[in-house]
Amino acid sequence: MQVENYVISWYTLYCVHWRVPDYRSGNLGEGKMKKLFLVCTILLAGSSLVWAAGGSKKKKPLPYEFGSVTISNYSQQAGIPPVVFDHWVHRKNYTCRVCHVDIGFGMTANSTKIRAADNAKGYFCGSCHNGRTVFGKSKLFESCATSYTREEYNRCLKCHSLERDPAKEEAFFKFMDTMPKETFGNGINWEKAEDMGALKLTDHLDGVSVKKLAMKTQADFSLKAKVDGMPDIIFSHTKHTVWNGCELCHPDIFVGIKKGATKYSMIELFDGKYCGVCHDKVAFPQTDCKRCHAKQVQ
Ligand code: HEC
Ligand code: HEC
Ligand code: HEC
Ligand code: HEC
Ligand code: HEC
Ligand code: HEC
Repeated sequence: MQVENYVISWYTLYCVHWRVPDYRSGNLGEGKMKKLFLVCTILLAGSSLVWAAGGSKKKKPLPYEFGSVTISNYSQQAGIPPVVFDHWVHRKNYTCRVCHVDIGFGMTANSTKIRAADNAKGYFCGSCHNGRTVFGKSKLFESCATSYTREEYNRCLKCHSLERDPAKEEAFFKFMDTMPKETFGNGINWEKAEDMGALKLTDHLDGVSVKKLAMKTQADFSLKAKVDGMPDIIFSHTKHTVWNGCELCHPDIFVGIKKGATKYSMIELFDGKYCGVCHDKVAFPQTDCKRCHAKQVQ
């Protein structure tokens, strides 16, 4: 219910907001208005079905919870708590590409089947959490091991933890204070932060990444929203490539042979497809309509 109310209020706000220029100029056709509301209603019904079916998106996550992934394929059976992975801690230092292309983490929670033995050998989390990687002034803590002392078990609990650690939340807000703000998601405008040079993103890991081919960045483009009065979507290849390279989207999410080759709708986005693979889970959520539907209505 909470989610539905939230969606309803946004739809109403945006639908009305976007019509304002038409109200002023007096060319708001009643037919147009009806059509827009019809589409919004269908979308709303569709999205709540998606939410109901998914069952997991019940409440709006808190800023430090946004992008948090619980990894739990093997740990609980092995008698150790599942792993909580925070995107914010990592994306402030690395591009998405490094982890999702070079290291090979999947783009869905629990799809990677990470084993303790692989981590210990220097794969997956162990690509960085190996006790050798220098970060700032110290070495990053190691991942899984088969033998460990009682003190070393505290290290295990840094990753194998289901309970929120207040110190982590405090660290989040301290970091957030230094970043440009945004209403949704982590409450941080990551795009702007990168743009202003407030983040130094590592896009290469020695021994893991292969030398990248220089790829010609594609032109930015706009997608038609297909509904009267709904602002078109502006998509920036340049901005996306900074974080994602090309390989995160092509060919897995978008075949990308030709603009318009893949057909997608807002309902599919809400269902976690296409743009929705990232937007809602790690990149700013889809409730932020205006950030995508950014083109001025004529
Ligand atoms: C330090 C490594 C790392 C970085 C950097 C990183 N990710 Fe992830 N990401 C992961 C891991 C690990 C998972 C969980 C995979 C699994 O459980 O199989 C994950 C999961 C995801 C998921 C699925 C989440 C879910 O709830 O299903 C999405 C979407 C995603 N990442 C997008 C991104 C985007 C976009 C960026 C860049 C802004 C990014 N990631 C940066 C490691 C990373
Ligand atoms: C690309 C390198 C890299 C990979 C891969 C990586 N990490 Fe990290 N991780 C870091 C760095 C660097 C930090 C320290 C960040 C900081 O303090 O600003 C860190 C910090 C952490 C922290 C401590 C957060 C805190 O609040 O102190 C946890 C927990 C963590 N990582 C879990 C994981 C898990 C789980 C995985 C695998 C699913 C993983 N990491 C994969 C680089 C990585
Ligand atoms: C950098 C993060 C990190 C640290 C630190 C860490 N682990 Fe893990 N560990 C993981 C991840 C991720 C998984 C996969 C979880 C899952 O799918 O259930 C995992 C899985 C496991 C499993 C599941 C069994 C299996 O065969 O995969 C065990 C047992 C385990 N770790 C033990 C430990 C112990 C003991 C320590 C401390 C000495 C430790 N881990 C420290 C990230 C970490
Ligand atoms: C965030 C996802 C994303 C990233 C990252 C990305 N693209 Fe795309 N790309 C798209 C989308 C969306 C389209 C439009 C395709 C469609 O609508 O089916 C597209 C279209 C294309 C097209 C067809 C263009 C046309 O005018 O028909 C090419 C070529 C392309 N991309 C190349 C690249 C290259 C090269 C990179 C890296 C420099 C890259 N893309 C990075 C999402 C992405
Ligand atoms: C592979 C993951 C991924 C996919 C797929 C993706 N995005 Fe993004 N997008 C990001 C990340 C990461 C950012 C940086 C901002 C953030 O994380 O909140 C971003 C930023 C943006 C921005 C803000 C940049 C700007 O121009 O100001 C817009 C708008 C946007 N995405 C629209 C889209 C649209 C539309 C699609 C689908 C056609 C799409 N994205 C697909 C990851 C993705
Ligand atoms: C991550 C970017 C993004 C966000 C955020 C977003 N949209 Fe969309 N929207 C799209 C894309 C992409 C399309 C499909 C355009 C195409 O294929 O031509 C679309 C299409 C639509 C359409 C046309 C009908 C349809 O189903 O295709 C409507 C109406 C719409 N969006 C409403 C909304 C509303 C309302 C919100 C906020 C709750 C929203 N959108 C948020 C990217 C976004």
